[in-house]
Amino acid sequence: MQRTIAVLPGDGIGREVMREAVRVLKVVADKFGHEFHLNEGSAGGAAYEKYGAHLPQETLDICSASDAILFGSVGGPVSESTLPKWVDCERNSILTLRKTFKFAVNLRPAKVYSGMEEISPLKKEVLDRGVDMLIIRELLGDAYFGRHEEGERNGVRYASDESEYNEDQIKVAAHAGFKAARLRKKRLTSVDKANVLTASRLWRKVVKEVSSEYPDIQLEDMLVDNCAMQLIKDPAQFDVIVTSNMFGDILSDAAAAIPGSLGLCASASINDQGFGLYEPPGGSAQDIAGKGIANPIAQILSAALLLRYSFAMETEAQAIENAVEAALKAGYRTGDITRSTAGDTTKNSTEKLVGTEAMTNAIIEELEKTNAKSGKKEAVATA
Ligand code: IPM
Ligand code: MN
Repeated sequence: MQRTIAVLPGDGIGREVMREAVRVLKVVADKFGHEFHLNEGSAGGAAYEKYGAHLPQETLDICSASDAILFGSVGGPVSESTLPKWVDCERNSILTLRKTFKFAVNLRPAKVYSGMEEISPLKKEVLDRGVDMLIIRELLGDAYFGRHEEGERNGVRYASDESEYNEDQIKVAAHAGFKAARLRKKRLTSVDKANVLTASRLWRKVVKEVSSEYPDIQLEDMLVDNCAMQLIKDPAQFDVIVTSNMFGDILSDAAAAIPGSLGLCASASINDQGFGLYEPPGGSAQDIAGKGIANPIAQILSAALLLRYSFAMETEAQAIENAVEAALKAGYRTGDITRSTAGDTTKNSTEKLVGTEAMTNAIIEELEKTNAKSGKKEAVATA
């Protein structure tokens, strides 16, 4: 298959981890007989320096001419946050892409890999029940895209962000939730604040209506404050969660803490044409940029989601995910996912502390063992 991918590395560690994801994509292309054409574009502070804009038309054109977007991270160091290069950098880049390409839902898997329990902040008993969930977040409604207003009334300053939902937006998210649940454990939790918010009441009603088309899926409604608590107390109860933009932003970061590092989390933002943007939600991590120590896994797993959701290459996506899991099982660790990161000082001889490039080498080595037909690891011949 021939496919074009817009590659937008952005700022900070984005540039370093993108290089690694591209190496992995090249191995996949070779192995499975695909041709991926990569078109690099600028975004964020890097684009601002070159074009005076965080998301120049040139970049949007590259994206429009591609079959999917692989995005790195944008944003500057905290100490420079008032420089024009960084002011509104994330908002201008990411929200504009979402709006331009109508990415209506965002998918974030959160899973604790076996053998990685010790870096999770949660207790072993909680993790033993098996944490593997998918958070689906509506991406074009809510306070993010409502009217923003700031002013002064009778000498008192005020600011407001209108938060509205229409039934069509809710239906899109609900269908995405039910369809995803159908491919997993057939359980969907719809999260809202229907005890207080009118928009949440509509949300709950519409999700219920849509559920009649999915009699095989078990639907449960949950209030967002309770959900935040349940994510920490008993995350194994969740299969697929579907929720609104703002709640999803917060809950997906809470869920991302469970595997132990944002460096293990990937995300997909998709429109109704299957066109999507794939990115690690961890940010540009300027404090560790340029040192060659950033964890490339989130970017590599984002590339796997790209293959799955935009190119329907499920076998290839699984091959990458299995290779990541195998490299972790073999003990390879970047600094963010070592036991000592989790405060564990006991010696673990199986851990091999590596940098960005060596971690990718370990993943590629595992990928090379994959059988291109089945996507499974080649059987090792025994005597
Ligand atoms: C995310 C980010 C963005 C959001 C910001 C950077 C605009 O936090 O993708 O979750 O709030 O959606
Ligand atoms: Mn967020």
